[in-house]
Parts: sequence; C-alpha cells; structure tokens
Amino acid sequence: MIKAFVHEEESILIRKIPEPTLKDNEVKIAIKVAGLNHRDLHIPERRGNVSTPLVLGSDGAGVIEQVGKNVTNFAPGDEVIVNPGLGWLHQSDAPPKSFEIVGMPNDGTFAEKYVVDQNYVERKPSYLSWEEAGVLVLSALTGYRALFTKGNVSANSTVFIPGAGSGVATYIIQFAKAIGARVIVTSRSPEKRAKAIALGADLAIDTEADWNAELKDESIDLVIDSIGRATFNRSLSVLKRGGKIVTFGATTEDQVTIDIRKFFYGQYQLLGSTMGNREELRDLLQFIEKHQIHPIVDSVFVLEETKEAFQYLQKAQQFGKIAIQVAQND
Ligand SMILES: NC(=O)c1ccc[n+]([C@@H]2O[C@H](COP(=O)([O-])OP(=O)(O)OC[C@H]3O[C@@H](n4cnc5c(N)ncnc54)[C@H](OP(=O)(O)O)[C@@H]3O)[C@@H](O)[C@H]2O)c1
Repeated sequence: MIKAFVHEEESILIRKIPEPTLKDNEVKIAIKVAGLNHRDLHIPERRGNVSTPLVLGSDGAGVIEQVGKNVTNFAPGDEVIVNPGLGWLHQSDAPPKSFEIVGMPNDGTFAEKYVVDQNYVERKPSYLSWEEAGVLVLSALTGYRALFTKGNVSANSTVFIPGAGSGVATYIIQFAKAIGARVIVTSRSPEKRAKAIALGADLAIDTEADWNAELKDESIDLVIDSIGRATFNRSLSVLKRGGKIVTFGATTEDQVTIDIRKFFYGQYQLLGSTMGNREELRDLLQFIEKHQIHPIVDSVFVLEETKEAFQYLQKAQQFGKIAIQVAQND
C-alpha cells in the first residue's frame, strides 16, 4: 500500500491505496515532490460525491523505480518530471479530443508512486532542485504556449499580465523578460507587486487601480488574462487596437459580457489556449535551461499537509508555486 492524497465522497484526505501496477509501456516513479495547481482546487466539486478514491495532482518529479518490458528510453534510477498533458504529443492549434490532464479522470501525482506511459515523462533538468522540478510543468507549459505559440511575443512587445501572484504569471514574467519584451503586471497585493518587480517586471500596478489612467503612456501589444470575469473587460480596454488577448483561465468567473462593436472596431484578436503539447514542453525545457530560469516556489507543504496547501492557494496568498513534498530529499 502507498500513501496518497485523494478525493473521495466529497472529502479530500490522506489515505492508503494499493500500489499501482505497471504495463509494458509504463514507468513507475517514486515521487519526491508534486506541484499544486489551481485546477486541483476545483476537481472535488467537479467530481461530486464519488466513492472511488481519485489521487489528485498533475505535476510531479521523482526517480524511476521500475520500467515495463517495452520501455527503452528510461531505466531505474533516472531522475524525471511528469508531463501532465496526456494524449497531445505534436504541435497543433488545439489538443486532440482524447486529451486529458493527469489527476482526473485518472490518478495523479499526490502519491508515493505514480505510473504512466513512457511518452509522458521527461528528464529532470539537472540545474533545478526537486521542489523547482516538481512544480514546473503544468503552469510553465501553459504560460509558454500562451506567450509564444498563441501570443507570438517578440523582444519589441509590451505584455500585460493581470494577477502577478499566479503560478503561471510568475513563469510568463520570466519568459517574456528572457527574450527582452516589456512586462507590465497587476496584483492586489503591494508585496506581490514588489516581488514581481524583483522578478523582472518593468511596471507593477494595483489590480484595483484605474488601469487606463496608469497605462496612458503604454502601448500594450499582448494581454494574457487568466482571471476571467473580474478583469477581462478591463484587460481588453488597455489593449492597443489590433492587439492580442490570450486567455486560458477563469479564476473568478467564466461568463463575461463584451461590447462586440468596440471589439470589432478595435480589430482585437482573442485567442484561447490550454496547457501545451510535448513538442512545446521540450522547447520549454531547452528555453529555461538556456536562460537559467528557476520556478518561483512560494512554499513547501509535506504530503500530510496537502489540505492546508489547498486552503492557502484558495486564499491566493502565494506568489508563484506551491510544492508538496512527498518523500524526503537526499
Ligand atoms: N487551461 C489551462 O491549461 C490552464 C493551465 C493552468 C492554469 N489555468 C488557469 O489559469 C488560472 C491561473 O492559474 P494559476 O495556477 O496560475 O492560479 P493561482 O496561482 O491560483 O493564481 C490566481 C491569481 O489570480 C489573481 N486573482 C484571484 N482572484 C482575483 C480577483 N477576484 N481579482 C483579481 N485578481 C484575482 C490573484 O493574483 P494576485 O494575488 O496577484 O492579485 C491570484 O494569485 C486559473 O484559473 C487556472 O485554473 C488553466
């Protein structure tokens, strides 16, 4: 039996579950650190009252413990990270219909052991700590696709990102600065605004301020908004005519009303995005290594404290990512 953090019958709790078994194409990973994402908060509600336990968690890093007989790329002892985007290997405008994210409907990474097809495992970048590697993929890949593939950012772009404290935002700030773009963020918290500046943002304004007044001298080429209803129309109002707005989240609410006439007169471009494929993940791994980018780990909770970590994320207290330590580091 192994220890895992599961959703079961409307509760989230630590539980002993049977150790997962291995198929011929699969690897078994002894998870060292898993990463919490906003997505994890909503899964209990989305699943409802289900008696079968589901191991939560999409991100993780660990050491390969066992490989199936058809596995050629990995061997026991390899240090790896999990690719949570199942069923999306190649570049395309949108994921295939069969695309799924680790942690629902199938068991996730908040467990001592995790088993997955060898196609969804990459080598851990050696310059990252276990905590950094464990919180990397889901958010960084989402930010990478939103910024580069969809947003087509360049060194001449000015990028505007509401909600600087978000895990994804902390990656986008670093990626955009690495290529020389101008980065403007908002946050409701003065401490997070200061942290965003320390991370490289050129300007950080209060989310509650009058953005049009604050940004009257700026020309925003690209907005990346994942907050949803609370900011979407304000984000659109600071975008230059013909500019792009990329959305991949709705932290506040999903339903937004827009003035369609203003939208088409302004010739704005609205682009949806979701995570990313394996090609983008491999590009991302090269990109962060080249620019020596480190994930921002706000805090580390041990597996037994995962419920407290959920509450901490729910209150948006973090700046960056929250790690769940599953096994002691050597
Ligand atoms: N589609 C995908 O593939 C995908 C992948 C990753 C994430 N997402 C989604 O993208 C969003 C961001 O994810 P994340 O993990 O980075 O989130 P996160 O770490 O939980 O951060 C959310 C941030 O949103 C801001 N915020 C929250 N409530 C707000 C409000 N009422 N008004 C203004 N700002 C508010 C906060 O920024 P401040 O504290 O700085 O104010 C907060 O730190 C989530 O909705 C998530 O589900 C989607």
